[in-house]
Amino acid sequence: MLEQQFEYIRSITDFSPEILIILGSGLGDICDGIEDRIEIEYGDIPSLPVSTAPKHEGKFIFGTLSGRRVAIMQGRVHLYEGYTPQEAVNHIRLIRLLGAKYLVITNAAGGINIGFRPGDLMMIDDHISLFVPSPLVGKNDDKLGTRFPDMSEVYSKRLRKIISDCADDIGVKLQNGVYVQLTGPAFETPAEIRALASLGADAVGMSSVIEAEAAKHCGYEVCGISLISNLACGISKTPITAEEVHEAGEKITPVLSRLIINSIGKF
Ligand code: HPA
Repeated sequence: MLEQQFEYIRSITDFSPEILIILGSGLGDICDGIEDRIEIEYGDIPSLPVSTAPKHEGKFIFGTLSGRRVAIMQGRVHLYEGYTPQEAVNHIRLIRLLGAKYLVITNAAGGINIGFRPGDLMMIDDHISLFVPSPLVGKNDDKLGTRFPDMSEVYSKRLRKIISDCADDIGVKLQNGVYVQLTGPAFETPAEIRALASLGADAVGMSSVIEAEAAKHCGYEVCGISLISNLACGISKTPITAEEVHEAGEKITPVLSRLIINSIGKF
């Protein structure tokens, strides 16, 4: 499958990205500054899962940003759309085959840490994968990576330092924390949030962990930033809505875009 998808892209372009950036809910407009742009819809690539989630467009954008060759995933696919964990990481493996070495994950997340506020950006220092099925289950493809990959530093210290320094330079306050992925699509209950807090999670969402795990397996250097779009259930006094998550994403996009653009130039 990956070979066929690779051949399809190669029939369109010989572009070889260095960096893959995955854009979460409402975080679209980093793409405005891309030069030499080539767009490929997920739906045009043989058997590649397409995004069905609201505000997830479902296409790759290739081009140059900050002097670096980037592939942007405008829209990801989630477990709650009915995809298997392997399907949900297909795009990441495909872009690795094209040459990418670095992965920047972004997402919208609910803040569990009581020090967080909606609109904060959180550097993902580590993750908890216990509540989602692993994308590495099944026959291992040794060409991609090893059967039993080490996960002691999924999120690269080197990349985290670059991003933290860039945040300081542009005067953006970054929180740090542990992200936990659940399958969704329902938001959590207050009891679940209390349980996740006691396990050490600072932010909760419905993506990213399986992506980081698959990316680490196939050799990317990985980093991730969560937009804290809302306080998690039970910490927030009001019910959570998808609209508030998207609106928060749209508001913070210029800051997050600037942070990513400045950072990737130094990867
Ligand atoms: N929970 C799960 N996923 C989310 C949330 C949340 O509170 N906010 C944004 N994505």
